[in-house]
Amino acid sequence: MTELSKSGAAVGEPTTASPAPTAFLEVRDLKVHFPTDDGLVKSVDGLSFQLEKGKTLGIVGESGSGKSVTSLGILGLHTAGQYGKRKPQISGEIWLNGTELLSADPDEVRKLRGREMAMIFQDPLSALHPYYTIGAQIVEAYRLHHDVSKKAARRRAVEMLDRVGIPQPDKRVDNYPHEFSGGMRQRAMIAMALVNNPELLIADEPTTALDVTVQAQILDLIRDLQKEFGSAVIIITHDLGVVAELADDILVMYAGRCVERGPAEKVFDEPRHPYTWGLLGSMPRLDREQQERLIPVKGSPPSLINVPSGCAFNPRCPYADVPKDNVTRTVRPELTEVGSRHWAACHMTLEQRERIWTEEIAPKL
Ligand SMILES: Nc1ncnc2c1ncn2[C@@H]1O[C@H](COP(=O)(O)OP(=O)(O)OP(=O)(O)O)[C@@H](O)[C@H]1O
Ligand code: SF4
Ligand SMILES: [Mg+2]
Repeated sequence: MTELSKSGAAVGEPTTASPAPTAFLEVRDLKVHFPTDDGLVKSVDGLSFQLEKGKTLGIVGESGSGKSVTSLGILGLHTAGQYGKRKPQISGEIWLNGTELLSADPDEVRKLRGREMAMIFQDPLSALHPYYTIGAQIVEAYRLHHDVSKKAARRRAVEMLDRVGIPQPDKRVDNYPHEFSGGMRQRAMIAMALVNNPELLIADEPTTALDVTVQAQILDLIRDLQKEFGSAVIIITHDLGVVAELADDILVMYAGRCVERGPAEKVFDEPRHPYTWGLLGSMPRLDREQQERLIPVKGSPPSLINVPSGCAFNPRCPYADVPKDNVTRTVRPELTEVGSRHWAACHMTLEQRERIWTEEIAPKL
C-alpha cells in the first residue's frame, strides 16, 4: 500500500482519468453516499488502498463503519438497481487487474463478478437459494463462466465440496441448504465463491455466526485455499483477533474513512491511532482473565449523516484534549506516514503518540 493523492472529484461526479495502477487491486478515494429522508449517509467517504495477488488485507472497524458498503462497492453491487430512484452516489476509482470498475460497463463488471472476484457473505442463507440443492447452485455458478456440460460441472461441484471439507461430497451435493449445519453452509458458500478460481476473494465477516471451533476451521480453510489459488483476499471483520494471523496488511475504518493502515505486525505492535488502541484493548486475549480482557471502546460510533467536524473520533477519544501544535479541532486529520508503509490520521505528533503507546497503552494490554 502506498499513499495516494486525492482525486478531488465531488461525490457523484465522474473522476478524471489518472494513470492505471500497477497493483492488482487499487481503490482510490472511494466514496459511497446514500441519499435518505434524513439526509445524505456518507457510508464510505474517501477510502484508498492497494492489494497484491497472494496477499490478504484485513479491514477492521465497528458495526456501521462502512466495511460492507466498501466490499459491495468493489463488487459493483451498489448499482444493481435495488435502490430504485434513490441510487447511491459513488465516486473514486476501483482498479482490478488494469480495469477501472466504476466507469466500466455493468455487463463487464457482472462478468468479472464470480469469475475474477467473489464474495463470502456473513450469512450463507442470504447467498444460498433455499429451493435449489447446494450442487445445483455451485453448478450454475460454474457454468455461468465455463462452457461445460452439466455432468462436468457437477463433478467440479463435488470436487469443490470435497476441497472445503464437506464429508461424502458426492452425496451431500444433492442436499438443500437447510440440510446443512451453519458451518457446512459457510463451507458450501466458500466452495461456490471459489468454483471459478477468482483472483479476488472478499470475505465479509465470514465467521461471526459460527462457534469458535468452526470459526478457526473456516479461517484455516480460507488461508489454505488462498495459498493454493494465490488469490488476493480481503477479510472484513469487527474483531482484530480474526485477522491477527491471517492478514498481511490491516486497514482500520472509522465512520467511513481509514484511520490507520499498514503491515499487520506494525498495526498490532506499533499502532499510531487512538481508535486502534481502543480496538486492541477490546480484543479477547487467551492469556488474560475474562474480566481483564474486554475494554470496549467507550461511546458509540457517530451518525454518518452528521459526522463530527474535525476528527470523527473526537467525541470518544481519550486524547482529544491533549495539546496539539498548530491544529484547529475543526480540521480533519489526514493520513500521514508514521513508518514504512504505515499511515495514521491523528493530530497528535508522532512523538506524542509513540510516548502514549509505549508508556500508557502497551503496558496495559
Ligand atoms: N442502502 C443504504 N441506505 C442508507 N444507508 C445505508 C445503506 N446501506 C448501508 N447504509 C449505512 O451505511 C453505514 C455503513 O454500513 P455497513 O453495512 O458498511 O457497515 P459495516 O461496517 O459493514 O457494519 P457491520 O459490522 O454491522 O456489518 C451504516 O450506517 C448503514 O446504516
Ligand atoms: S485527532 Fe485528536 S480526537 Fe482524533 S484521534 Fe487524534 S487525538 Fe483523538
Ligand atoms: Mg457489514
